[in-house]
Amino acid sequence: MCGIVGYIGTEQASGIILNGLEKLEYRGYDSAGMAVFDGNKINITKAVGRLKALDEITHGGESMPGNAGIGHTRWATHGVPNHVNSHPHYNEQETIAVVHNGIIENYLALKDKLIGKGYAFVSDTDTEVIAHLLDYYYKGNPLEAITKVLHRVEGSYAFGILFAEYPDELFAVRKGSPLIVGKNETGSFIASDVPAILKYTRSVYFVDEQEVACLKADSIRFFTVDEEEIKKECVHIDWDENAAEKGGYEHFMLKEMYEQPKTVQDTLMPRIKGEDIVIEELGMSDEDMRQIRKIHIVACGSAYHTGVTGKYIIEGLARIPVEVDVASEFRYRNPVLEEGGMVIVISQSGETADTLAALREAKERGFKVLGIVNVVGSSIAREADNVMYTWAGPEIAVATTKAYSAQLIALYLLALKISKARGVLAQEEISCMMEDLKRLPDQIEMLLNNKTKIQHFANRYIGAKDIFFIGRGIDYAISLEASLKLKEISYIHSEAYAAGELKHGTISLIEEGTLVAAVSTQKSLYQKTISNMVEVKSRGAFVLAVTNEGNTEIEKAADYVIYIPETNQYFTNSLAIIPLQLFAYYVSIGKGCDVDKPRNLAKSVTVE
Ligand code: AGP
Repeated sequence: MCGIVGYIGTEQASGIILNGLEKLEYRGYDSAGMAVFDGNKINITKAVGRLKALDEITHGGESMPGNAGIGHTRWATHGVPNHVNSHPHYNEQETIAVVHNGIIENYLALKDKLIGKGYAFVSDTDTEVIAHLLDYYYKGNPLEAITKVLHRVEGSYAFGILFAEYPDELFAVRKGSPLIVGKNETGSFIASDVPAILKYTRSVYFVDEQEVACLKADSIRFFTVDEEEIKKECVHIDWDENAAEKGGYEHFMLKEMYEQPKTVQDTLMPRIKGEDIVIEELGMSDEDMRQIRKIHIVACGSAYHTGVTGKYIIEGLARIPVEVDVASEFRYRNPVLEEGGMVIVISQSGETADTLAALREAKERGFKVLGIVNVVGSSIAREADNVMYTWAGPEIAVATTKAYSAQLIALYLLALKISKARGVLAQEEISCMMEDLKRLPDQIEMLLNNKTKIQHFANRYIGAKDIFFIGRGIDYAISLEASLKLKEISYIHSEAYAAGELKHGTISLIEEGTLVAAVSTQKSLYQKTISNMVEVKSRGAFVLAVTNEGNTEIEKAADYVIYIPETNQYFTNSLAIIPLQLFAYYVSIGKGCDVDKPRNLAKSVTVE
């Protein structure tokens, strides 16, 4: 997720752009840059690091005079955060400049074609391909060049574009990434999000998929990808600035929960090419995957919980033994790592000290490490031998949600990829499961829209002292994450138990009215889990069940049931966790806790 701002009008563009980018730094802060037309040519300045560096290098924008410009704060997805990978990107003659938020899924194929036509590239980004592709199609008509590019590009984007031969126009277009256009008496604006231009105008247009906006100081026109002009309705924004930064949501955590459909889509789709799963960054051949004898997954907190899910998935689909460790244990227990072992570390921040130490421990023993990481260029990303990124964008809330969901997708794809290489699953079975994966974003969206029911149920447990989560197999992994979500943001004591463990001591904790959430999505274990529900119910528990649509028999044992849509049994975590995230969230705000910044916690634990 990156931040885009643009302006064309009677005022100096650079100051407006810098101010707007500052409001969008939460969307990305690896680097920043601006392109401003000074009346003669397009001047481009970039700076690695926070926006402050760009502000200083341009003396608050004063060194970049001009009335038309575009700016960008970067959250790296392709290419580490360095100067050459920063936006804006431009063609060789610097007569076309572009800023981009999103992921171009077919950028490598387009890059190869452009290199074959003599284009030279300087960066590792997908965005630079757009600058050269615009150059390739530009014959004097910007709209024509833009629409031709749109017909070639696959993936998600919001572009801001300057053409030096059209100094009194600014162009923008989006597909899959947000883009708004605004207007006031001085000129016209583009931005990734409302906060960037709220200081200048509350009159905005929300650009829809593949609509091209052509902005002048005194006019804004919209066109379809087929160059047909369309009329759009101007909307008045009445959010205050604080609400606007959260996209109108009350908390970043809620905003990020609602970003999960897109996070899943962005992590999944670039790695599905027809019937194949393509994970170029894996750095392993099919033969390498056939040589794997054991997989060690190492992580902390929620990342560890996705690792526990990964154990069930990889053992189930690829038939390789998997050992999962909490990183703070792995680094000190002198683990037995044998030839043919593969180590995977999972981390949203890529800076968790224990996980980084575990990575170094494995590498010191001569083992290659695969990192599943969200932050490009982070310590774990840099030190891992190979990195599979979860393109979830910046996660602000301390309690992870969208990055957790993206980590699950990465593990599903990895398990299927290894399974196919080892000939465990047939292509037909894998293709069917890939269709299940493609349905997840919409299914998550549907569950998120069920929030009112969850909120009412959560309000009943604001005063709870203990809440337990139980499950078997993947449902146990889901219970671990659900329990942590509740604990870390509501401060209510909670535990997750393998449901079969209850009778070995835990059940003594159950009292009249104790809430026990039973996760039951594994069909082969339905009856076992129902038995456990009956056990706790007979001791006074109130049982919440989270189960698959159609498993109505569970209503005999449960007091309250939340159904999730049908999906492959290996993917149910992606769905069952949604109502349980919402449950934790609404209990927390019902208690008046600081949802985004819970007491005692940091977003990234960079110390032991
Ligand atoms: C999860 O909600 C917590 N914020 C925490 O458990 C987190 O998952 C853990 O600290 C690991 O962080 P990482 O993914 O950045 O390594």
